[in-house]
Amino acid sequence: MYNRKDAFYRKAKKEGYKSRAAYKLTELNKKYGLYNPNSRVLDAGCAPGGWSQVVLETVKKQPVVGVDLIQVEGMGYPNFHFILGDLTSNETLMKVLDICPEFDTVLSDAAPNTSGTKLLDHVNSCELVGLIFTFAKKVLRKNGNFCFKLFDGEDTQGLLKEIRRFFNMVKVIRPEATRKSSFEIYVVCKGYTGEKE
Ligand SMILES: C[S@@+](CC[C@H](N)C(=O)[O-])C[C@H]1O[C@@H](n2cnc3c(N)ncnc32)[C@H](O)[C@@H]1O
Repeated sequence: MYNRKDAFYRKAKKEGYKSRAAYKLTELNKKYGLYNPNSRVLDAGCAPGGWSQVVLETVKKQPVVGVDLIQVEGMGYPNFHFILGDLTSNETLMKVLDICPEFDTVLSDAAPNTSGTKLLDHVNSCELVGLIFTFAKKVLRKNGNFCFKLFDGEDTQGLLKEIRRFFNMVKVIRPEATRKSSFEIYVVCKGYTGEKE
């Protein structure tokens, strides 16, 4: 069991972030330089909007595109574009490319609905990451960065082996703001080779 209203949850509320996840991205970007003020950023699975908020504090002019199955309200930044859609569909891909034909950074905090069964959640998470990775390859520029969340488990190494072929550097991280009981990991991938297959 975890305390939903833990220290990061209270901090997020106090500081006006839409999610405690905001602190995970802040930490990841500080350590691994995923984006900078000139980056065009895609936030895949962005609702309720905490990661996008954090990105928009740095990226003031370039487009920040958020996609989710759930509506995101009240972002109020002129360079933020929200698409209500499924990341696994071609229609969503077309809408994203219409707004911005190429991205410097693709972030994905997307997660499937959890079942409470660790193995099933892991398998579903691997499948979603695989589809988002296919999406990312279609929008990411050469040498761009990709960072995604995964529910860790027995297929993690196989998935990472596949993804490593496409990047100069791949690193697995557990941010401090991740709950101790969680089996989520974040994977930072830098320097996309530009290969599609
Ligand atoms: C943990 S939340 C993201 C939190 C967000 N990073 C923040 O800081 O506010 C995961 C999101 O992934 C979204 N998601 C899962 N599968 C998706 C899909 N196929 N297409 C679009 N969004 C998806 C869910 O709707 C959910 O809002």
